[in-house]
Amino acid sequence: MTHHIQIERRGAVQIIRMNRPEKKNALTRAMYAAMADALTGGDADPAVRVHVFLGVPGAFSAGNDLADFLAIATGGEGGSEVWDFLLALAGSQKPIVSGVDGIAVGIGTTINLHCDITFATPRTVFRTPFVDLGLVPEAGSSLLAPRLLGRQGAFALLGLGEGFSAERARDAGLIYDVVEEGRLEDATLAAAGDIAAKPPEALRIARDLMLGSREELKERIRIESQHFRERLTSDEARAALMAFMSRKKG
Ligand code: COA
Repeated sequence: MTHHIQIERRGAVQIIRMNRPEKKNALTRAMYAAMADALTGGDADPAVRVHVFLGVPGAFSAGNDLADFLAIATGGEGGSEVWDFLLALAGSQKPIVSGVDGIAVGIGTTINLHCDITFATPRTVFRTPFVDLGLVPEAGSSLLAPRLLGRQGAFALLGLGEGFSAERARDAGLIYDVVEEGRLEDATLAAAGDIAAKPPEALRIARDLMLGSREELKERIRIESQHFRERLTSDEARAALMAFMSRKKG
């Protein structure tokens, strides 16, 4: 267990809060494991009707901990935590809502492609610098982003690593709405409460119909993961990761 993930129940709403503010919620293997457990545990528990992802003020998540990536890039062993989390996310049996404020990089952006409703604040920027890091898109984003954003929008996000403001993300269909910082958690939890109040079986079937089969998505996550692991040990990735870890702050 890790104190960097806090799980809270409010009625039928399960809140999964990323809470590592000193590292802008960069996700460690232990954090992925805790989030995977929360998703699968919540899915199996009839008392939970909806999952909610939240971060801290100013940081939803700065993405995977780059020190963990560098460890793999330089010969260390990776674990199954990220994989377990991605499968739990893509296969979630219950609706997922997220509230995003500020930094949303890498998986901090791609988590939201699996959410049914996402709110973000005006200062939020969604960014996936996978290619700049010598890596490839993950979490099924190479499949989901073109569907949501069209080919060119997806290329701007995933290929060019362009930052999407909250407004642009909303207009592009990446998120549901933009609310002021002070209203983010209330708006997010109110939406989760509305979802939790619906007849759960009807909502489950409706959501399953909208999502369709998730086998293609899981298969895409598997293929992306294969490329991702290979890329992690490439010269391109090693150089980019080492540059980040040894950067000097001005
Ligand atoms: N992995 C590990 N540590 C990270 C991190 C990450 N993904 N993102 C931020 N941190 C750490 C920083 O190293 C810093 O640690 P330090 O105080 O011990 O030096 C701390 O979090 C605060 O980050 P800082 O860079 O000072 O904050 P900022 O507001 O100036 O910038 C970001 C925030 C997110 C723009 C910047 O940290 C960044 O670009 N991070 C990398 C994002 C990334 O590439 N993620 C992977 C995507 S696949």
